Amino acid sequence: MTADATTVAARARNVLMDTYQRQPITLRRGHGVWVTTDDGRELLDLVAGIAVNILGHNHPALRQAIAEQAATLMHTSNLYYTEPQLELAERLIASAFPSRVFFCNSGAEANEGAIKLARKWGKLHRDGAHVIVCAQGAFHGRTMGALAATANPRYRKPFEPLPKGFVHVPFDDLGALEQAIDSATCAVMLEPIEGESGVIPLEPGRLAAIRRLCDERNVLLILDEVQTGMGRTGRWWAHQHEDAAPDVMTVAKALGGGVPIGAILAAPRADVFEPGDHGSTFGGGPLACAAAVAVMRTVESEGLVDHAADVGDYLDESLSALAGAGAPVAGVRGRGLLLGVALTHDVARDVAAAALNEGVIVNAIGDRTLRLVPPLIITRDEVDLAVERLSRAFDSVAVPAGDA
Ligand SMILES: Cc1ncc(COP(=O)(O)O)c(C=O)c1O
Repeated sequence: MTADATTVAARARNVLMDTYQRQPITLRRGHGVWVTTDDGRELLDLVAGIAVNILGHNHPALRQAIAEQAATLMHTSNLYYTEPQLELAERLIASAFPSRVFFCNSGAEANEGAIKLARKWGKLHRDGAHVIVCAQGAFHGRTMGALAATANPRYRKPFEPLPKGFVHVPFDDLGALEQAIDSATCAVMLEPIEGESGVIPLEPGRLAAIRRLCDERNVLLILDEVQTGMGRTGRWWAHQHEDAAPDVMTVAKALGGGVPIGAILAAPRADVFEPGDHGSTFGGGPLACAAAVAVMRTVESEGLVDHAADVGDYLDESLSALAGAGAPVAGVRGRGLLLGVALTHDVARDVAAAALNEGVIVNAIGDRTLRLVPPLIITRDEVDLAVERLSRAFDSVAVPAGDA
């Protein structure tokens, strides 16, 4: 750590709660896929605010939309209509499936709302069924309901007792899911690709089979597309790779391109909220909605969904090739620009630290996975540069001798 970084860390310790393990850098500005540190270093950003900055940093269309909306009308509450909120809902529905939208501010909040929808649907349409079947490895956020749906004991334990009515089955195990659904079940809740637990995809065809199972057993399917959505996997929504439209979908992260906003989409069957059931002071405010409209328009006008598929394949191939070149890479998982590099040894944090020194930001998940979720605007040349830097980072990390 540099002297400056040590000073910043000491200042932070005095005033910021100790909830994050931060890298020893202070970021000052960004442009495209690049960010600049306080001491002037330029870094390629393959984390993008954890799958948020899909247009990169400082995109002119987003900047302009925010500036114009800030100068027009910033906040109104939901006691009135605003044009940006209506346009955003229309665009989301057109990109996804016939539905209506509730706006909120984050992924956890979107999942809280989805859980409430499922509970109310169970009361109205399934004889009071209230249990939600979730997946092991799932991450749905840090609020109490979202945490109850999240599997990882590390996140749950300190805060128990959590709300009841959640069970967890192995991800990608259709038999276990079939068994877990009973008369008390109102919904199945999943990420199409588990992000936080290491970029774990479902088997091809599995999501469509889960959709059919939910229909057969008359329970709702809730898909958490907070990380997988907005074009990242090479379709607007990851479930669109299969015939698997959910009854309820949650969205956040990339929707505002860096401005906080979340959303719940509910198909007519699941659209059971009535006035007074749910609400949010800031949810769907004109500033955040104008930003999100600009993001969706730009993704469309710049062809970024197809680009994510194409450049994602290229990044996947380039990373896979590192394995043959001696790097401790066991394989690459994921789809489009949501990729997890599985390592042969427990060196993920060392590699992420070395990568930072080489000028590229990647995210270590656990001991053996690197997560790469770059802006969708990343070019092949930038991929080449990032992989070159990552390769040097791998070279500089001591891998223990012998078997993993
Ligand atoms: C799949 C998924 N759902 C929900 C969340 C929570 O979102 P937020 O941090 O905006 O509350 C995350 C965040 O990483 C996520 O990856």
